[in-house]
Amino acid sequence: MTVTVIERRDFDVLVVGDLNADLILTGDVVPQFGQVEKLLQDANLTIGGSAAIFACGAAKLGLRVAFSGVVGADEFGSFLVRSLTDRGIDTSGVIVDPALKTGLTVILSTGSDRAMLTYLGTIAALRYQQIDPKLLSRARHLHIGSYYLLDALRPEAARLYANAQSLGLTTSLDTNYDPTEQWQGYITDILKHTDIFLPNETELQGIAHLSGVKAALAKVAEQANMVVVKQGADGATLRKGATVLHTDSIPVQVVDAVGAGDTFDAGFIYGFLRGYDLQHCLRLGSICGALSTQQAGGTGGQPTIDEVRQYVGAEFPA
Ligand SMILES: Nc1ncnc2c1ncn2[C@@H]1O[C@H](COP(=O)(O)OP(=O)(O)O)[C@@H](O)[C@H]1O
Ligand SMILES: [Mg+2]
Repeated sequence: MTVTVIERRDFDVLVVGDLNADLILTGDVVPQFGQVEKLLQDANLTIGGSAAIFACGAAKLGLRVAFSGVVGADEFGSFLVRSLTDRGIDTSGVIVDPALKTGLTVILSTGSDRAMLTYLGTIAALRYQQIDPKLLSRARHLHIGSYYLLDALRPEAARLYANAQSLGLTTSLDTNYDPTEQWQGYITDILKHTDIFLPNETELQGIAHLSGVKAALAKVAEQANMVVVKQGADGATLRKGATVLHTDSIPVQVVDAVGAGDTFDAGFIYGFLRGYDLQHCLRLGSICGALSTQQAGGTGGQPTIDEVRQYVGAEFPA
């Protein structure tokens, strides 16, 4: 007789990375120096950070999520922890460091494009030793967002991923942009332990040190187990070994694209953890990314799985 042991874990995903406040300004946002005061259309203070937006998207879809990151002992820090808790995300792994100020990004958004001004504060401070190994062993999957902002963690991130894999977790990585534009930082080490790598086109070509999405995808697909490149209004393409899959996006009225990539990641990982085939993971990611652009900020337009179903029919199982 064979006995199947079904291991129960408390969390579907442990998310590690950046948690900061986003102040999103819309309208005629190009600043004019010389003390010129301009009036704007709208201002929204929202939860920000690629990892945090991913965590919110995953929780909204129905995954059980825990977060590990750092905030300061200030108003922005309290706002962020409260915002995660309100969405049902476990914040026992969020460290409050009174020596630092919570990171802040001011986003100047024109709708189709955006400029960002970031004060890193606590964003870069998270250290390997601050990630609770017990929390890791309680999760099915590990995701890092904004790898290139995590200065203190980066040298040991590959070790974290190797540990996660040895504990039976699957792993995903969204580096986001590298402000140094060097695209190094132990990236080949962590890609070896990455099951699903989720860059956009610019980031993929930067990391491959090659121009042309196709060539870059072929190269990086030899380093990570699976690469999913996000292509804005053009959808997304996946490569795993010699297999290449593509999905178009859906037409949307874009308010701003803040967090579209992170919400795409959440949709893809939801599908992956629910055992969808890869084409459906890709399609779900793309729909989630597109729907998120219809409202201001990273989390406002994130859909529930029922909202996705209403939009595309019952194509996706719960
Ligand atoms: N203008 C848009 N129209 C339709 N879908 C979009 C648009 N922008 C983004 N998306 C969706 O969101 C996903 C992620 O957006 P993208 O801009 O490629 O990532 P990132 O935010 O990481 O740069 C895309 O793959 C696409 O499915
Ligand atoms: Mg991104």
